[in-house]
Amino acid sequence: MASRPQHPRPSQPPFPANAWEHVLASLEEGIVVIDRDQRIAFLNPTAATLIGQSLAQIGQQPYSQVFAANAWIVDIIERTRNSSYSSTAGEGMITGRLQRLKPVRAICSPIFNDEVRFLGLSLVLHDLSYQKELAEDAQRADHLAQLGVVVAGLAHEIKNPLAGIRGAAQLLHSRLSSAPANQTADEYTTAMIREIDRLGALLEQLMQLTAPLRLDRRPINVHKVLSDVLLLERETVSPGVEIRTHFDPSLPDVLGDEASLAQVFRNLIKNSLQALNGCSHGSLSLSTRMATDFHLVRGEPEQRGRFLSIDFADNGPGIAAEHLSQLFTPFFTTKSQGTGLGLPVSQRIIAQHGGIIRVESEFGQGAHFQVYLPISPHTGERG
Ligand SMILES: Nc1ncnc2c1ncn2[C@@H]1O[C@H](COP(=O)(O)OP(=O)(O)O)[C@@H](O)[C@H]1O
Ligand SMILES: [Mg+2]
Repeated sequence: MASRPQHPRPSQPPFPANAWEHVLASLEEGIVVIDRDQRIAFLNPTAATLIGQSLAQIGQQPYSQVFAANAWIVDIIERTRNSSYSSTAGEGMITGRLQRLKPVRAICSPIFNDEVRFLGLSLVLHDLSYQKELAEDAQRADHLAQLGVVVAGLAHEIKNPLAGIRGAAQLLHSRLSSAPANQTADEYTTAMIREIDRLGALLEQLMQLTAPLRLDRRPINVHKVLSDVLLLERETVSPGVEIRTHFDPSLPDVLGDEASLAQVFRNLIKNSLQALNGCSHGSLSLSTRMATDFHLVRGEPEQRGRFLSIDFADNGPGIAAEHLSQLFTPFFTTKSQGTGLGLPVSQRIIAQHGGIIRVESEFGQGAHFQVYLPISPHTGERG
């Protein structure tokens, strides 16, 4: 049988020439193009999110109007226009949707065609929120390290005599309670031991806040850890409060210290349950997912990776705006019996895992805590 002549297949271009809009849409940087008439000609989705308006909403408005609330960006664009050949960069806050402020770095550069004809300007907006959060975490860790030296010394000084006092109180308790008709003494010594134990637990938390953590990191399934914690905490749930879970079963393991992560989850769940105490339609929702909205850059490029997120959302009273920035400060508490150590200790543990904790809340609107944990490239992914 005669074989058909072999035509070479038209070679597929390695990358479609008309795909640049998709390329721009895929970027984590906000890209704004300004034409020669000083109007906004293009916005990629990241820029639209940062500015809080879509291209359709902007409808070829001049940039001075679009960035009216951000004079420093107008200034950068104008300086680039005037220099006409060099880029200009700066950092500042951008006012996005709902008047939310975000820190960004802006770089404005002129665009030329092959004939060196000026076509317009490009403005690249880089969201600095996560870097700022990481920098704040690092600064807080520094403060804690300094505080740590003092606290560790003090805790050590208190621990030993406290153990002695506890021993003596226990002895007193057994002597007095064996004597007839000594119910009051029995109550007093029981209260003494209870308060000594409370102090002991406080010292333990203080040491955790500052002493180097010894983490035994292995691949663990966060759902198992969450379920174990929930099993115990469910017993303390007051009537009228419901706990719901939405776990994504395809999530990979994380490399973590099980006991420490359980402690973080317990702290967050306890805080929500305490906030919901007495609510008639209280709900706490625990959900897990891959963090697609989030690309954390920490450490060396080979350590950068993807994150999973564990969300704790309650419909309790929420957190007043003036308290939000203090939540992770040691000893900040609004509870009469609180220590104000749960969140700072949790933050420290999560930071040691290469993750972060974020919180969103409006007073009266419930609280939403998010724990981001890196997925180790070594643990592999399921599903
Ligand atoms: N889910 C929540 N709802 C409302 N407020 C919260 C919630 N979680 C934490 N908080 C606030 O954060 C403070 C600090 O929490 P934490 O560090 O755990 O210390 P503590 O629980 O001992 O007060 C609490 O006193 C409370 O005001
Ligand atoms: Mg707490």
